[in-house]
Amino acid sequence: MPELSRARLHALLRALPKAELHIHIEGSLEPELIFRLAQRNGLKLAYPSVQALRAAYAFSDLQSFLDIYYAGASVLRREQDFFDLAWAYFERAAADNVVRAELFFDPQTHTERGVPLQAVITGLTHACRRAHAELGISAKLILCFLRHLSEEAAFATLEQALPYREHFIGVGLDSSEMGHPPEKFARVFARCRELGLHVVAHAGEEGPPAYIWSALDVLKAERIDHGVRCLEDPALVRRLAAERVPLTVCPLSNVKLRVFETLAEHNLPALLDAGLCVTLNSDDPAYFGGYLNDNFIATFDALPQLGTAQAYALARNSFEASFASAADKARWTAELDDCFARLAA
Ligand code: ADE
Ligand code: ZN
Repeated sequence: MPELSRARLHALLRALPKAELHIHIEGSLEPELIFRLAQRNGLKLAYPSVQALRAAYAFSDLQSFLDIYYAGASVLRREQDFFDLAWAYFERAAADNVVRAELFFDPQTHTERGVPLQAVITGLTHACRRAHAELGISAKLILCFLRHLSEEAAFATLEQALPYREHFIGVGLDSSEMGHPPEKFARVFARCRELGLHVVAHAGEEGPPAYIWSALDVLKAERIDHGVRCLEDPALVRRLAAERVPLTVCPLSNVKLRVFETLAEHNLPALLDAGLCVTLNSDDPAYFGGYLNDNFIATFDALPQLGTAQAYALARNSFEASFASAADKARWTAELDDCFARLAA
């Protein structure tokens, strides 16, 4: 594929149809919306202004981020709040030419505060339906268990969610990774697989390659969220490549949480060179400095080895790695080919 000028490469990256597979919907809660929801729900915030809240977004690791992320999510109380949250994300996703979004949500973050699961799932589901009808985005939900809580709590959450089974396509595992290996959730994931749910898990973000092995072997994860530490283990890389297990990589997140000190040091080029099915994602865009196209552009700017061939691979992988139907994947891939023919010829 021909190399393009920077301006044309940026235009191509923005225009690419793409799937976003690693977005925590609570992580798209912008400070402005936190203040609006706090006011609507009669809540007092610990910060005097949007600017003061944004200034607190300086993280040293995953846990320092999670503390602020859970505090931010505490303004979400009613069904309308969850709708407004997801709708704001979909409007941004549409502007980034996202055609498929698989949204993580954290029910325990809300049910532990007394918010009914019905309000969470109904609000998010209405936003997904409207995103499809009005923005042409195919949108689905993935329920995540918080790994710092017990397996028993995860089972209780699954039980509460079963009346809404048709509203989510899979389950995931997120929150504090270190000290909470995937095998802690072996039985609840086995039950989820029996229920026909897709299964994914965060692994190898801060945690070691052993957590990626157990996400694959014990949880039978179909995708690994992050997974960037796999490169420390050549046998693991061979397995991921041979089975085309997708990695949902989030470069701006990795820099904000100090997994890599700078984007220029990110191992994305090496992951691609190893033949892995890598996708790009925003993780928690309100906290990490950008949505999906911001991730594409900042990463391609920081890593000059990335060009049109990698742009094509990342977008194509995002469709391959999604849980959409084969017909949808083929349609989006054809749209990707059209986009390349127009903008990269
Ligand atoms: N929850 C929200 N963002 C997360 C991340 N990057 N890792 C683990 N849990 C999360
Ligand atoms: Zn994540």
